[in-house]
Amino acid sequence: MQRVDFPASFVWGTATASYQIEGAANEDGRLPSIWDAFSRTPGAIVGSDTGDIADDHYHRFGEDVALMADLGVDAYRFSIAWPRVQPTGSGAVNHAGIDFYRRLSDALLERGITPWATLYHWDLPQQLEDRGGWLERDTAHRFAEYSALAVDGLGDLVSNWITLNEPWCSAFLGYASGHHAPGRHEGSQSAHAAHHLLLGHGLAMQEIRARRPEAKAGITLNLYSVRAASESDADLEAARRIDGLSNRLFLDPVLRGVYPQDVVDDLGETRWFAENVTSEDLAVIAAPNDFLGINFYSRHTVAAEAKESVAVSTDAAGAAATATAPSAYPGSESVVFVGSGAPRTQMGWEIHPDAMLDVLEMANERAPELPLYITENGSAYEDVVSGDGRIHDVERTDYLRDHVAACREAVARGLPLGGYFAWTLMDNFEWSWGYSRRFGIVHVDYDTQVRTPKDSALWFSTFLGGALGRSPAFSSSASRSPEA
Ligand code: FCB
Repeated sequence: MQRVDFPASFVWGTATASYQIEGAANEDGRLPSIWDAFSRTPGAIVGSDTGDIADDHYHRFGEDVALMADLGVDAYRFSIAWPRVQPTGSGAVNHAGIDFYRRLSDALLERGITPWATLYHWDLPQQLEDRGGWLERDTAHRFAEYSALAVDGLGDLVSNWITLNEPWCSAFLGYASGHHAPGRHEGSQSAHAAHHLLLGHGLAMQEIRARRPEAKAGITLNLYSVRAASESDADLEAARRIDGLSNRLFLDPVLRGVYPQDVVDDLGETRWFAENVTSEDLAVIAAPNDFLGINFYSRHTVAAEAKESVAVSTDAAGAAATATAPSAYPGSESVVFVGSGAPRTQMGWEIHPDAMLDVLEMANERAPELPLYITENGSAYEDVVSGDGRIHDVERTDYLRDHVAACREAVARGLPLGGYFAWTLMDNFEWSWGYSRRFGIVHVDYDTQVRTPKDSALWFSTFLGGALGRSPAFSSSASRSPEA
């Protein structure tokens, strides 16, 4: 398998997010985000880790861009930290914050790498959370205002925009289970956050269109292939509920301009949606996108109740379904996530490259012409630095290759898949798991900040025809043979 097996226009990239890599938490006018506050909450993050330093990318971005150039990628998906650009969440732009992303974008463009900027990858300014966060409708308007500042400041350099990353996580891990910042337990009211996030997406799209009509813009959703553990009515009902909360609650308003009534009813939020979601809101949310971003990691198998024969699996946060925290699926708390026996990554997420095709089909059925991009896909494993100083991450390499192969199959089926972004360029702050989970194709030594490409990076670079894959310094079988 080689890059030439794909259309020449197919975009190959890597992805990261601001709070996970930047560090420099207090520099150049940045103020705290909800993740700065949450990571200081006792017990919230494994090892009490924070993103204060992370990969120190804020100071080392030049080295990181050079690494990407050596990998041979076409594009880099990064996120813009709202608390750098508009530190209090309202009012004037912080020029020092914008300047960082201008320097980064310039460096990328000099190397022939196209910037893809995500406006919101979860770092809400804490001052907005203090005023109610995403449970408040006003936050959608604040997001549009910030998006306008970002596009004004960067629109001459960046022409690919993603409004939100995974609003499911922001709403339900943030405001229901509390596994993510701001760590609140608001039950079904977390669905109000989902609506305000989607409204924010639509309003931000208007700001992008008004300023840069030629730019390409869309949203990124985390979609799952959801299966029932058996053909029993009860298990099929469980699958309907989880597919509803994970996929349809987001896909239907964005692509069809309607909330799925069964899901709203499951949530027990029928009245709130009837009274608060206007037809204008739905028109704003459903305005055409240029593409849909899909983050794909795993498949869910669900049952109505625990079965002795199957192991309990983990949910999308990587939290065991037996954990005592409130459910991330309000109104459907009794549904059980079960294992299907497939191999899992260190997150406990089952590996199903075929299920990536399911989610591409799911999106394509709703919007047949809409270009689709895999904006994240990757795996965490316990890496070992070998005696030769290298990281022979066989499992991550297999995961990457098998999902790239699934992309090839998607293209062969005629699905409008336009690109693939590997999550993630380098090991980083994995949210509530802190630095205990490594998703990078490049290893980071957090004591020295030394970056070392893993075998998965060499495989990717060889596949892409990049300089790293051709480097004699890396003459492993992984770097020589993309089929290996
Ligand atoms: C996704 C997030 C990303 C990363 C991966 C593993 O849900 O968008 O930041 O944490 O999971």
